Amino acid sequence: MTDLAGKRIVVGVCGGIAAYKAVEVCRRLVDAGAHVVPVMTKGAEHFIGRTTLSALCSEPVQMSLWDEESPIPHTKLGQGADLVLVAPATARLLGAYANGLSTDLLTNVLIATRAPVVVCPAMHTEMWEHPAVQHNISTLRSRGVHIVDPEDGRLAGGDSGKGRLASPEAIVAAVRAELGPKDLAGTHVVVTAGGTREPIDAVRVIANRSSGKQGYAVAAEAARRGACVTLVSTVDLPAPHGARVVAVETAAQMQDALERLWDSTDVLVMAAAVADFRPVACADGKIKKDGGVPNVVLEPTPDILCALGAKKRPGQTVVGFAAETSDLVANAQSKLARKNLDMIVANDVSQPGVGFQHDTNAVTFLRPGQALESVALTDKRAIARELIDRVVSARS
Ligand code: PMT
Repeated sequence: MTDLAGKRIVVGVCGGIAAYKAVEVCRRLVDAGAHVVPVMTKGAEHFIGRTTLSALCSEPVQMSLWDEESPIPHTKLGQGADLVLVAPATARLLGAYANGLSTDLLTNVLIATRAPVVVCPAMHTEMWEHPAVQHNISTLRSRGVHIVDPEDGRLAGGDSGKGRLASPEAIVAAVRAELGPKDLAGTHVVVTAGGTREPIDAVRVIANRSSGKQGYAVAAEAARRGACVTLVSTVDLPAPHGARVVAVETAAQMQDALERLWDSTDVLVMAAAVADFRPVACADGKIKKDGGVPNVVLEPTPDILCALGAKKRPGQTVVGFAAETSDLVANAQSKLARKNLDMIVANDVSQPGVGFQHDTNAVTFLRPGQALESVALTDKRAIARELIDRVVSARS
């Protein structure tokens, strides 16, 4: 497959035991037709030789800002790239890039480029989990940098845990995804995320465990595919690059926001966990304990998705989620029909690693008149890609 023909990809290699895998990544990119320009940090030279990368790539390795032949290699490389890939990326590189520090040729290229960037971290688990590293990762993600998470597995020095560089297949797939079609360009995608909070009194709420991660992943993927994205959210996560966030708290506020957006909505993805019941009244102030156990009377909330599904116009695509703990397919099937949806994404939230709060999910896609399709436990971003693929195919 030479689908990357004509693409100029700068591949940055940092100093880490996983640097040897960059060789395989470069080879695969060259095989796919890309023009690969290798840049190594000083640290990388401790792990692989320049000659290896120079021989495999389309140009000799560059390492220095002070190359006599090209006085400003950092801007030239960054400006001319269709994509910049860093594999492996060390904690130092992430910190410098997130903070806009140009400490060497590679960080200069990253700061000087307007091309899409794919960063593949690799380090020891303790370093990966350090709050500063995670903060840098979320900063980069919120700026639209595609982070390919490290995997669990063997690390240097006989250790094992999360931190191993993603596989060359996964890295090349991420490059392909970034350079792939903007198949949602010109489309307004509205995504909901998080759990609604229904007030009991001035300080207490009825809430649920939704973290918003799944909805944010869907919003980020839709934006990456070229959509204009509005994210109606109850949670305070960094906004995905390119998405506009409308903050809400209750089901009523979410419904109000979605009704206002409805006329311009092409695709609605309802990943939020909306409360089914809310207190009839919110007490003034804080209910005092010495008044005894309060009688909190509940009423049903409006079914937002059902109301919007009922007035769907031709050309609008409406997707719901179903959070179930039993009879996954039967319950989801009934919601699909009752809410007049184009697709429902069913997750069995009683299973380990599935649904609320996890970074992972496992889902079954149900579409009217089509066979069920299941995706086994994987990262919520991968679920988002699968979901958007199906939205695109439903609209084409
Ligand atoms: O946020 P995370 O921690 O990442 O977790 C993700 C998730 C588990 C919340 C997500 O994957 C998910 O399943 N979201 C839907 C949760 C839910 O409310 O499911 P439900 O089966 O109760 O509702 C079915 C659909 O109707 C949902 O799209 C829901 O948004 C919508 N709904 C429900 C009630 C209501 N009053 N109005 C609605 O619009």
